[in-house]
Amino acid sequence: MGGTVVQHLKECPQVSGIVAYDIAEERVMATQEAYHIAGTIELDEVLGDPAVKLVFVTAANHVHKELVIRSLEAGKAVLCEKPMANTLADALEMVECAERLQMFFQVGFELRYSHLYARVKEWIDAGLLGDVVSTHCLYNSSAYSKNAWRNTKAEGGDTFGERLSHYVDLTRWWVGSPVVDVFSACAPNVVPYTEVHDNYHTTYRFASGAVSHLTYYMNYPALFRGDPLRDDITDLQLGDGHKLRYIIVGTKGAAENDVFYRRLKRWEFSDAPDTMVSDWVENLTWERKEDHYYYHNTTDQTRDVVRRVTEGLPPMTPARDAYETMRLCFAAERSADTGRIVRLDELPAPAFTC
Ligand SMILES: NC(=O)c1ccc[n+]([C@@H]2O[C@H](COP(=O)([O-])OP(=O)(O)OC[C@H]3O[C@@H](n4cnc5c(N)ncnc54)[C@H](O)[C@@H]3O)[C@@H](O)[C@H]2O)c1
Repeated sequence: MGGTVVQHLKECPQVSGIVAYDIAEERVMATQEAYHIAGTIELDEVLGDPAVKLVFVTAANHVHKELVIRSLEAGKAVLCEKPMANTLADALEMVECAERLQMFFQVGFELRYSHLYARVKEWIDAGLLGDVVSTHCLYNSSAYSKNAWRNTKAEGGDTFGERLSHYVDLTRWWVGSPVVDVFSACAPNVVPYTEVHDNYHTTYRFASGAVSHLTYYMNYPALFRGDPLRDDITDLQLGDGHKLRYIIVGTKGAAENDVFYRRLKRWEFSDAPDTMVSDWVENLTWERKEDHYYYHNTTDQTRDVVRRVTEGLPPMTPARDAYETMRLCFAAERSADTGRIVRLDELPAPAFTC
């Protein structure tokens, strides 16, 4: 992820220098070599440099809190990758630190920049779907490799935060109402070597009455190379088991999107004497070369963060908003662990509505 951000930063006219930091010297050297930038294994060198205005925290999840808080305290604006942290207490501490110091702190939910998902939000905001009453997400990805830190609770945290936080964040964004409670169940793992769950069946109920369901499998889609959504989707992947599809139903219409098939559809509801009518009114697609802008649009996120920091503007979404998504993740995890419905008001800090 660090390399991806560096690539985007190199195209930002406001950026005059970039320095890579990692505890692993070989990663620093590889990044320097690949992108022709400065590098160090000394964090104080970065944080003590007044020329450094903005820090992108793209390290493994268990060190996000330390890196974010130290950067904020050193007077740097921060973009931190999702998940914010591996515990809710750590995530809250990060938000409170940014608020206390009145520093720029954005969390990397870049799907809010995705042309695909932002279009759904535009339809909802324009009233084309009416009130969103239900959403369904089906997400299937392949397994992590055996030595991945993401398999461990200590470094990766839970699957919900690491893998699913984006998809819960989108649902919150679209529904626009606080979640009241969540029920989550996990079947026994199929991936034999991971400490974390490899599947979820999770239902959220919102104050508006809306209901969202998320089904996730991290086991059967064919393995090719890490996270398919970070790369262009190849024809080979169509039908190989990878799936990422949403259905969003409102009182006046519905939408469906499928990133692997490059599809976004919309329906409009109306009345007729003998039935409710649903008309299929939009059927959008895009070119393979545009995939990046339609999925993990880290390009526009990086540009936007640089612009905001340069112009002294606040983050695209307040850190409290990202924290609310983290509350939903931890509530789902708690429900899966205890087998009961978890009310959001059981978790620390009050609900935040975008
Ligand atoms: N937004 C997205 O869609 C997306 C996609 C991929 C990864 N991510 C997130 O980006 C982060 C990194 O993921 P990745 O795939 O690049 O992982 P990676 O394993 O390739 O890189 C993680 C790096 O963190 C470094 N690290 C570990 N401890 C450190 C410390 N104390 N100080 C500094 N560096 C340290 C490791 O040496 C390693 O180089 C994770 O939080 C992940 O969830 C987000």
